[in-house]
Amino acid sequence: MSNSKARVEDKNLILEAKKAMKSAYAPYSNFKVGAALLSRSGKVFSGANLENSSFVLTVCAERIALYKALSLGEKDFTKIAIVASSEKPITPCGLCRQALFEFSPDIKVICSNLKGKVRKFTLKQLLPHPFSYDKKKRKGK
Ligand code: THU
Repeated sequence: MSNSKARVEDKNLILEAKKAMKSAYAPYSNFKVGAALLSRSGKVFSGANLENSSFVLTVCAERIALYKALSLGEKDFTKIAIVASSEKPITPCGLCRQALFEFSPDIKVICSNLKGKVRKFTLKQLLPHPFSYDKKKRKGK
């Protein structure tokens, strides 16, 4: 089937994020998060939040998934699912929004809690005024 690889359904991406949540290391906040990122080539990269006793070293599930994918050569993503055991589905923090924007400004963001409540956004809705500069203008400077 043409283009079938890229057609991972939202509910399956949520399931992958839920699985990833199990690997969270969150002894300080006790708040586990899982994320699953879909590349345009159809591959899924998952991540979980990893905390540290030096709190500033904590990394969100979304950026773990993103950096995992980037380090394997993937740079273009179509959607990301995020799961946490919160009352309302959580949306990515500001740092993660900006990190996602760098590679996929048009990415879809699917947020779910463990009870199956889902909210869907575009990154543009969540980050209407991202930081960006004209890379071409800076060449050679
Ligand atoms: N966290 C995420 O992994 N993703 C988010 O979108 C928000 C927050 C993590 C960071 C920290 O380990 C815990 O949740 C509480 O802030």
